[in-house]
Amino acid sequence: MPAHTITILDTNEQYSCNESQHLLAGMVQLGKKGIPVGCRGGGCGVCKVQITSGSYQSKKMSRARVTRDEEENDTVLACRVFPQSDIQLKVLGHLNKVVKAV
Ligand code: FES
Repeated sequence: MPAHTITILDTNEQYSCNESQHLLAGMVQLGKKGIPVGCRGGGCGVCKVQITSGSYQSKKMSRARVTRDEEENDTVLACRVFPQSDIQLKVLGHLNKVVKAV
């Protein structure tokens, strides 16, 4: 499985994530304290991110968490997104505070 480099634009951190692994799983491996475990199933919305570049595949997400407009703007749930290329993303919501914490 090819691995891709994911860049968190908020902090300029990078991590590697392969195509069979969702973006949240890769992020957890950064070892940051407090990355929300959440449901990892596209239902709770804690792992919301905006993809600013790169291609990906996404699985079904709760419409209550990601509106159609958001999805069209590449705002997605990291636990439902699998990278197809290198990706740059911004972290939204609760996860943002965690990622930015030192
Ligand atoms: S962890 Fe619940 S939506 Fe991603």
